[in-house]
Amino acid sequence: MTTPELLNVADYGRAANKVLQRDVFDYYEGGALDEVTLKENTASWQRVNLYYRVMAGVRAMDVGTTVLRRPISMPVMVAPTAFHKLACPEGEVAAARAAARAHTAFCLSSLSTTAMEEVFTCASSPKWFQLYIYKDRGLTRELVARAEAAGAEAIVLTVDAPGWGNRERDARNGFRLPPGLTVANVAPVGKGDFPQVEGSGLAAYVRTYLESALSFDDLDWLCGTTELPVIVKGVCRGDDARRSADRGAAAVVVSNHGGRQLDTAPATCEALPHVVDRVAGACEVYVDGGIRRGSDVLKAVAMGARAVLIGRPILWGLVLAGEEGASAVLEILRRELEEAMLLCGFSTLGEIDGSVLAP
Ligand code: GLV
Repeated sequence: MTTPELLNVADYGRAANKVLQRDVFDYYEGGALDEVTLKENTASWQRVNLYYRVMAGVRAMDVGTTVLRRPISMPVMVAPTAFHKLACPEGEVAAARAAARAHTAFCLSSLSTTAMEEVFTCASSPKWFQLYIYKDRGLTRELVARAEAAGAEAIVLTVDAPGWGNRERDARNGFRLPPGLTVANVAPVGKGDFPQVEGSGLAAYVRTYLESALSFDDLDWLCGTTELPVIVKGVCRGDDARRSADRGAAAVVVSNHGGRQLDTAPATCEALPHVVDRVAGACEVYVDGGIRRGSDVLKAVAMGARAVLIGRPILWGLVLAGEEGASAVLEILRRELEEAMLLCGFSTLGEIDGSVLAP
């Protein structure tokens, strides 16, 4: 799917946004308030210089790695994003298959338009389930148990959403799920639709059903509820990341929810080094937010991330060509990472160190 119009990830974004319905485009694309963090996420990776090494004798690049001791073919994984059937008819199944084709990890959102059992049986790459803690702990426990039974290998607990970021685009558009689409994982218990309450929409869904007073006790509770590794997603501070590791998290994701929660939170590229420093190897560290080039992946690895996750680019691929499109986006990033490694003088990820950022 590489055409002169679709050479890179940003091309996919532009093309996808031309064909999407306005409210869906805004839901996927938008961030909170003035979208400062949203813009900075991308811009801050671009500002980082790469001090490349010369005459390094690199013949071939190996971008394989492991996450939670499972091999993946490159340090680029699929982030949890909501409502894939707004992007293409096969929805989350197409995204999971694309991740499996790329031999990388796929994380399913709690807010998926396809039930986890259907998604997890269709693909064989490492499968993770992203969890929002519902006020109803019985329901939350049941979601975790279902994810375990369906073959999930980790639970990714989102911690940056005690309330919903104020996404003014969605408020203006009155964003809703169209008839026929639901939050499929919880539709059988009557929580699949946005409630008809004041300010209805996704923010009302969150306010009505999800826990707002999340605390580290909830992390303890979750770790005690499941045998699966727990990944804490949505940290920007070293102390929170370290505390998560000390309380049982197997990994943390430096993330600001794609700029969709607290506006003017730091870009993840800025936050990552502090988190890596404070965690000091106590758990794995991943990062998402604004990663659009293979060279961004290299920079994240140089800062100490084990791998990155990408969200919107997968949606753009789905919009344009379903599984094929998402797959093409992943392969663009793989190729660009290899190219960046060659130009920087690295043949393996293990060789990439901080000196490429500040010699
Ligand atoms: C879902 O997680 C969203 O940010 O809309």
